[in-house]
Amino acid sequence: MGYFRENIEKAKGYEPGFQPELTRQGRVVKLNTNENPYPPSPQVMKVLAKITAEQLRRYPDPLGSAFRQAAAEVNGVQPDHIMCCNGGDELLRIAFQAFCDENRPVAYPVPTYSLYPVLANLQNCKAIEVPFDSEFNLPAKLAGTGAALTIVCNPNAPTGSFVSVDELASLADELAGVLLIDEAYVDFAEANCTALVKDFDNVIILRSMSKGYCLAGLRFGYAIAKPDLIAGLMKVKDSYNVDAVAIAVATAAIKDQQYFKENVEKVKRDREELTEQLRALKFEVSKSYANFVLAKSKNCKASEIYDKLVQRNIYIRYFDLPGLSDKLRITVGTKEQNDKLISALKEILSN
Ligand SMILES: Cc1ncc(COP(=O)(O)O)c(C=O)c1O
Repeated sequence: MGYFRENIEKAKGYEPGFQPELTRQGRVVKLNTNENPYPPSPQVMKVLAKITAEQLRRYPDPLGSAFRQAAAEVNGVQPDHIMCCNGGDELLRIAFQAFCDENRPVAYPVPTYSLYPVLANLQNCKAIEVPFDSEFNLPAKLAGTGAALTIVCNPNAPTGSFVSVDELASLADELAGVLLIDEAYVDFAEANCTALVKDFDNVIILRSMSKGYCLAGLRFGYAIAKPDLIAGLMKVKDSYNVDAVAIAVATAAIKDQQYFKENVEKVKRDREELTEQLRALKFEVSKSYANFVLAKSKNCKASEIYDKLVQRNIYIRYFDLPGLSDKLRITVGTKEQNDKLISALKEILSN
């Protein structure tokens, strides 16, 4: 017998996008992990500079009450509808542990976030993958899988597509199990599903501070759901799942809504410009509601373009997966980064 459970022994594990060493970052154009290209709010840096030894000596507030309060105000709910998490990824792990096992499958439309099958495997639960159509509409079959947990990533990664709030309300209504709506990228969309939490006792919304709030390094996200669901999820989390520094910093970030809104508008404007520039190079780019675009090259293999960009120290994301192997996912960077990418693509495609 090996040391590990059989499914862990066999598992490949999640493969995060490449992170170049900090010292090399100046020379690298990094558009591969959907980070925000801009720094967090100046309020964040002020709070960080004022962290005291006492805050570090003591255990943190297990509920992250300061953040809960601030996030509740921003989302128009009560604090008991919020649970703080060590990144949105922790909420996903907690949800798998809370709702899924050998007899309680998960279901989600594909292609989508590649962490879901990894978590299903770790939890030893069956994953029912229901394909999107070519326009990434919500598959009707998703309502009838009988899964204990259904996940819809909205906007979806890596497609950038968006399913309407009405469609997700209908899905929540039809499902017997829980519907987790992964809104990690919703800051860059035109609508969100927070209102569904008021009407449905089976809806959990995932939010991340990594994208719209420029805090991927901090590891902070949160759940929005009815208090009964939140209380159940709390039983599964580590007691001190978010640390004192993270609570203080994330609270400062979510309170600075003016900085947040200006930043998001900038990224959205640059996303539209990048989309046009890629289309001018004959890429097929569908409308994105996230901080990345998915581009299909008609004239050159996606994997070849990826390799040639790496040679030029430009990192984007290539997935050798069904439905994605002819496409490239590109994070919206600063104007300068986007321009460097476009110049490199022009050179690669002209050879
Ligand atoms: C679809 C999706 N959901 C959730 C997350 C988790 O984000 P984080 O753990 O950084 O909050 C990510 C991160 O890239 C994501 O792409």
